[in-house]
Parts: sequence; structure tokens; C-alpha cells
Amino acid sequence: MNAENVRPVTRCRVCGASNWQEVVAFGDVPLANAFLEPAASYEDEPAYPLGVVSCRSCRLMSVTHVVDPEVLYRTYSYVTSGSETMTRHMEFVAEVCRERAGLAPGHLVVELGSNTGQQLAVFARDGARVLGVDPARNLTAFAQRIGIPTLPEFFTPSTAQAVGRAHGPARLILGRHVFAHIDDLAGVLAGVRTLLAPDGVFAVEVPYAVDLLEKHAFDTIYHEHLSYFLMRTLDTLFTRHGLSLFDVERLPVHGGSLLVLVGLPGVRPVTEAVGTLIAAEERAELGTDAGYQEFVRGVHTVREELPALVRSLVAEGNRVAGYGASAKGTTILNLCGLGPDEVAYCTDTTRLKQDKVLPGTHIPVRSPEHARADPPDVYLMLAWNYADEILRKEREFLRAGGRFVLPFPKPTVVSADSFR
Ligand code: TMP
Ligand code: ZN
Repeated sequence: MNAENVRPVTRCRVCGASNWQEVVAFGDVPLANAFLEPAASYEDEPAYPLGVVSCRSCRLMSVTHVVDPEVLYRTYSYVTSGSETMTRHMEFVAEVCRERAGLAPGHLVVELGSNTGQQLAVFARDGARVLGVDPARNLTAFAQRIGIPTLPEFFTPSTAQAVGRAHGPARLILGRHVFAHIDDLAGVLAGVRTLLAPDGVFAVEVPYAVDLLEKHAFDTIYHEHLSYFLMRTLDTLFTRHGLSLFDVERLPVHGGSLLVLVGLPGVRPVTEAVGTLIAAEERAELGTDAGYQEFVRGVHTVREELPALVRSLVAEGNRVAGYGASAKGTTILNLCGLGPDEVAYCTDTTRLKQDKVLPGTHIPVRSPEHARADPPDVYLMLAWNYADEILRKEREFLRAGGRFVLPFPKPTVVSADSFR
């Protein structure tokens, strides 16, 4: 463990309590997006404790250890996917935000964690003034080149003030899959209050803890994901910071997510969807000891069955490769103890990852062209959140006798016959 870059969680980042219930501990694990150049030895590769605890007071699920964001985000290899699924999703997010915030041409849209600027490009196309804020210097340089103005900064109260002075108030502030990565929620929400127009909307997209718990999809648990939110916990958070969560959409992306819409109190009526989802969480008794035990049992089952299945396929003479070198994928491989002896390579469309090796397992990443020229017998579906799209795209591979292993909710093999 690299003690200087990590600290254990003490107080709850939502409610301030320090009454944690232990959920699961995975030991020391390398960072999910820390791809490495191929080398003869990887002795100095850092690994950090990974586990989850739950706040008995507000039911926030949190990782047990927070890694310094300067280490995680200044150079970042996660590039927003240009997949059909994600492109369609971004159009949907833009439509919901446009409607709920009453966006008109000329309004200011600010996105936190704007990555390569793909989501902001949708708003810019429709006439909004857009500004990204993202600490990853390699990605903001790219966004600038494609014409999306982006500040290479973390979003703090002083960044918010500077943006407000330069551009005026924001009609929409957006944080897609960045909110779960933020430790100082109070600082970010203070910045949001500073920058948001009185009738503006803050739209937040997070992986939904209910999907994590129900699907046993433990591969969303990695150091970057500090928080796993229930609706009830989000509601508590925004109320504590002088904001009001007024609407919600449940979405299929990234294995199950929420898009919550937040404004200043009293500006918009709270929709029924908010109360309905909170009531469903209460009925399902999520956040109870029994609920977590069931989740942990499901996690153990996948951690036993998946490597056993892959090893038996290899023992039968099959060559296995991974499909997608996603952060989720590197997490499953590390937590299931699968390495290059079982998984020959992982194919991934992201240039930044190609020809590097995966953190921890050191499995090489290959381009889709390489994979087509040298296909395996079986693909382990690591980017399972895009399974429908990938299975459609790989019809030829399936037709030629290729198979896929899907990891969740229980490892299964699919072949062309499965679709007849
Ligand atoms: P994500 O789930 O975090 O968006 O990551 C998905 C990863 O899978 C990303 O590295 C891109 C990769 N990918 C492929 O290689 N091929 C595909 O067809 C899709 C949809 C994703
Ligand atoms: Zn709490």
C-alpha cells in the first residue's frame, strides 16, 4: 500500500456521522484505470485497500479508503465511450435536462467531469453556451481541440466563483458519473449554489446502489467510486446543503443509474417519482444487515464460479480473451484472480488503453482490429453494461462458433444457439 496517497474514511461525507457498518473487504487492489506500459517486472505497482462500509445513519455506502484525487484524475485513461448505447443515452440526458431546466439557446451549461466534451457537444449543437470543468489535463486538451471550452480544474467554490464572474449564472450544471467520485461534496455543492441561476437545475447521474445490491455487480466497486447512493441518501444530502431534489429518472446505463434533478428549494414542485422510489427502497429494506448479507453471498458466488468457469473452458482447450478493458473489467479480473494464463488479451476500442497492460493482472490490451485478426474461442464479457450492443456487433464471431461468458448476475455462457 502507498500510505502517502490514501486515507481511511472516517466521517460520512453525507451526514457527518461516524457509525459505519462493514459490508465487504477485498484487500489491497491496484487502481482500476491505472493501465501500465508493458514491462519485464511490475514490482512497484501500487495497490490500495478496497472495501465498502455503510453509514448506519443515512445509508450511504462508501469505499473504506479514499485515494488522493491528484493521483487518480490528473491524467485519466477513461474516455467517454463513443458507443451507440452511450450516444443515445447522452441525447436522452440532454432532452431531460433541456425540458426540466427550460433551456433555451444562449443559456449557460456547465459540466463537471466533462471528460472529452462529448455530452457538452450535444448541448452546444442546440445553441447553448457550454463550459467543461475537468481535472484530467490529457482529456481537457482533447476537448479544447474539438471546440469545447474546458477548464483543467477540480470544481471547487473558487472555481465556481471564477466561472460565474466570467460567464454569468448557469441555467444547467451537469455531473454525469462524476458525483460518486467526489469526496468533498460540501465544497462542490457550495460551488453549485454559487454558480446556479435562481431557476437553474443541477442534474446528477450516479450508479444506483439498488442495482449494485440486486445484481451483485461488485465490479462497480473500485477506488474511484467513493459513494454508492440510494435515493434516500441523495435526498438527505441535497437538503443538508440548501438544495431540493425534485425529480428522478431511472436509467439502464452503467448497469443501472439514476439521473436526479436538483434546484433551489421551492422553485419547482417535487414530483411523485421521488417519493415512490424512496418508498420502494424502504420496502425492500435495503441497507439492513440482511440485505448486505445477501449481496455479499452473491458476490462470493460470482468470485468462485466465474474463475472456475473460465479455467474449465481453458482446460478444455479454448482460448479466452476479455471484451472491453473497462474499469469494471479490470476490477472483476483482479477480484477473481484471473490473469494472462487464463485470459490471453482484452480487446478495447480506447486508443489510450491499447498496447498497455491491465492494472494488477497485466493482461495486454489489443485493438479490435487485432482481435478480429486473432480471435479467441470465448470472450469474457467485461463491458457487460454494453452486452446488447456488443452481441449485435459480434454476430459474425458468434455465427462462426464463438461464445461469450456473461459474469452477472451469475456466470453464464452464450453462443449463437442462445439467440435462436
Ligand atoms: P465503461 O463501461 O466504463 O463505459 O467502459 C467500457 C469500455 O469498453 C471502454 O474501455 C470501451 C470498451 N468497449 C469496447 O472495447 N467495445 C465496445 O463495443 C464497447 C461498447 C465498449
Ligand atoms: Zn451518513
